[in-house]
Amino acid sequence: MTEVTREMFGHLPQQGGGGAVEKFLLKSDSVKVEIISLGCIITALETKGRDGNFSDIALGFDRLEGYVNKHPYFGATIGRVANRIANGKFMVEGKEYKLALNNPPNSLHGGNKGFDKVLWTPEVLLNGIRFSRTSPAGEEGYPGELKVWVTYTLHGGELAINYRAQSSNTTPISLTNHAYFNLAGQGSHDIYNHEVSIEADFYLPVDDNTLIPTGEVVAVQDTAFDLRKPVELGRHMQKFQLSGFDHTFCLERSEARRYCARAHHPPSGRTMEVYTTQPGIQFYTGNFLDGSLEGKGGSVYPKHSAFCLETQNWPDAVNKPRFPSALLRPGEEYNHTTWLKFTVA
Ligand SMILES: *[C@@H]1O[C@H](CO)[C@@H](O)[C@H](O)[C@H]1NC(C)=O
Ligand SMILES: *[C@@H]1O[C@H](CO)[C@@H](O)[C@H](O)[C@H]1NC(C)=O
Repeated sequence: MTEVTREMFGHLPQQGGGGAVEKFLLKSDSVKVEIISLGCIITALETKGRDGNFSDIALGFDRLEGYVNKHPYFGATIGRVANRIANGKFMVEGKEYKLALNNPPNSLHGGNKGFDKVLWTPEVLLNGIRFSRTSPAGEEGYPGELKVWVTYTLHGGELAINYRAQSSNTTPISLTNHAYFNLAGQGSHDIYNHEVSIEADFYLPVDDNTLIPTGEVVAVQDTAFDLRKPVELGRHMQKFQLSGFDHTFCLERSEARRYCARAHHPPSGRTMEVYTTQPGIQFYTGNFLDGSLEGKGGSVYPKHSAFCLETQNWPDAVNKPRFPSALLRPGEEYNHTTWLKFTVA
């Protein structure tokens, strides 16, 4: 049984158009998740540890203001296209489109006002909450009017996030959720004692300066990116002198639900498994967190104090013909689901 309740979270500033932001609480025996109608943002996610106590393992803010101001996409739905598009440019059906270079020299996570910064229309379901909105043609430079639905459902220890979309014109699309996790509890200093594994034989190397994939698809075998068996993050990063992960791992080519990653925190037993229908997963170790934001309950979030496992298409796929197609055409439906399964091990 999942209980769904709603309450007011805050009001958007008048100069941005205003609007009431609601918060929805989904609660099962083992998981409690809070999601707001701004950006379909996961503002809290509590799971049980070995001692049976709940802890909030998702980074975020106590108040709406934190999410309205610039922040590193804590818990947010990202669109129209997650990750980086090289030089903010792409061609679709012979026409060039230009996006805001909000992460110079690239476009990042949908532009200046991406899906994380807009109000969505909520609809309460039996076991969850569905948000919808229409992204107008030309929004942030993208072609076509796009109807989008983001649905969160909770069954026991498993949170499912489904993304659906339909477009009036051919458009690139890649939707994800950018939750930052620390299985020791949000606000804990680092993730070095977490054990992480990713079920991927290949990864995408990136250009060191622009963080855009070079286009090569490289075997993880004998590299720091071989995470097919669990590694303890701190020790692993030290061994390979890595300053952190911010890389896409290529998943088995299949549209079916499949297992793709696991994170485990031995002291608490908290474990998160990720399953998805998406072609890739971005593993990010909070390399750009710098402790300057005031998080929930006065927490500070220094470098490496959280990780993200963002299921999505491969970055810059719209400009890379050999990557999985980034395009959604009129009459087609974009439909992907990611499942986060929380257990104690
Ligand atoms: C777990 O909860 C119990 C009961 O509230 C409390 O006594 C105990 O200290 C908690 N354990 C931890 C590790 O916080
Ligand atoms: C979306 O895809 C799933 C399979 O991953 C399927 O079960 C579901 O029916 C699809 N939804 C729609 C609305 O087509």
